[in-house]
Amino acid sequence: MENLYHEFERILVTEEQIQSRVRELAAEISEDYRGKGSIVLIGILKGSFMFTADLARHLTIPHYIDFMALSSYGNSAVSGAVRILLDLRADIYQKHVLIIEDIVDSGHTIDYLYTVLKTRKPASIKTCVLTRKVDKAINTPIDYLGFDIPDVWVVGYGLDFAERHRTWPFIAELKKDAYQD
Ligand code: PRP
Repeated sequence: MENLYHEFERILVTEEQIQSRVRELAAEISEDYRGKGSIVLIGILKGSFMFTADLARHLTIPHYIDFMALSSYGNSAVSGAVRILLDLRADIYQKHVLIIEDIVDSGHTIDYLYTVLKTRKPASIKTCVLTRKVDKAINTPIDYLGFDIPDVWVVGYGLDFAERHRTWPFIAELKKDAYQD
């Protein structure tokens, strides 16, 4: 895989930084939900598969995991339309729900998801986001945030470019000539 390194401009968040922050977030979440019963972690596929798995392993409260897959029409979409490709297996009515996202970019995905899940009347709904692009206006509150990152194309730790680079343990900035003509 080393021959793909030439596509990276730089490493933005190292594996050590990610793992350390994930442990901190898990400790904070465990503390906040202690005594509230089981919480439902909702990982948003595909991007959050690694973050969800790592975070879950460090939680010290009862939890179970469900997944959703959403498709966005991209940052340039006029409407910012999002649709559900894969829905939850279980009902979240009166459950404590934590949405797990790898990245908030335009915010369309998380805004849509938050609105949809609220209509299902969970006991509570919070968001845990590993990376957020700075200076983007979103409506949804982010309750647990890993890192603010610059507005560049990022890959690794779940994030892809044309399905590539998802399984790196770090987050890197992709070189512009890797995705521009
Ligand atoms: C990415 C990412 C978020 C969303 C964020 O998913 O995983 O879910 O985009 O973008 P937004 O804030 O502009 O809506 P993507 O649709 O690329 O699917 P993937 O996770 O399967 O790669």
